Amino acid sequence: MSPDAGHGLHGHPRAWAEPGAPVLETRALVRDLGASDVLTRVLSGIDLVVREREFVALTGLSGSGKSTLLYLLGALDRPTSGKVLLDGVDIGKLDDDGRAKLRGEKLGFVFQFHFLLPEFTVAENVMLPMMRRGARSREDCARHAAEVLDALGLGELATRRPHQLSGGQQQRVSIARAVANDPRIILADEPTGNLDTRNGHIVMDVFARLVIERGITVVMVTHERSFAAGASRQLVMEDGRIVEDVDQRAGASPAP
Ligand SMILES: Nc1ncnc2c1ncn2[C@@H]1O[C@H](COP(=O)(O)OP(=O)(O)OP(=O)(O)O)[C@@H](O)[C@H]1O
Ligand SMILES: [Mg+2]
Repeated sequence: MSPDAGHGLHGHPRAWAEPGAPVLETRALVRDLGASDVLTRVLSGIDLVVREREFVALTGLSGSGKSTLLYLLGALDRPTSGKVLLDGVDIGKLDDDGRAKLRGEKLGFVFQFHFLLPEFTVAENVMLPMMRRGARSREDCARHAAEVLDALGLGELATRRPHQLSGGQQQRVSIARAVANDPRIILADEPTGNLDTRNGHIVMDVFARLVIERGITVVMVTHERSFAAGASRQLVMEDGRIVEDVDQRAGASPAP
């Protein structure tokens, strides 16, 4: 199974909306990493605008800087120079608490290793970030967690523990957890990396639906071309720069 660019799991074209306002921007973004005497320039001046309702796949060889860029977009790190703007807010100007608050309000993270907490049920895992944010009562968190799990076809698994799920189910629960907090943006680092092709495409479809039906913005790092082809836009990184920026919405030609 290898869906064409812009097509979903069953080969139907995805109905990508026009992108909206900028939600993530970088300006001349530079990140140097390493000990002070052997600094490596990992990001070499990146200018990027990601808009509402875009599903961006970030690809490129190992070591090209994808995770470093994603961490900066997620306010998990600070630039060496240049700027990251999240909904217009310059994250370089925030302290640790300010960045943590911004993350809690605007962002959902999905990683290759899902970090579900083994001692809690599926429903509790999805509730925890909502409880931490403190904007809803416990009952409200439980109700919302159940809704989100149902929407992702996981309702029947709500009372199970993570070890009682398949890898694909675990990954979808971790997406449910990221989504439950109503983020504007989901950042995912190789969310399909541990999955077989079928489950990988299911996860891609879940992301595409979130973008199309709920207007969320997704930025997803992936090594897999067939997954990258299912996004609305593909960015290719090389040596700390973005060397290709491809519109993959309907009518656009498939990635080479
Ligand atoms: N703390 C660090 N100190 C020094 N160099 C680092 C550090 N973290 C990352 N790097 C280097 O920065 C470069 C980019 O790393 P990054 O993790 O962003 O790559 P990536 O594109 O996500 O790769 P992969 O596909 O393997 O995950 C690599 O060359 C890496 O060795
Ligand atoms: Mg990486």
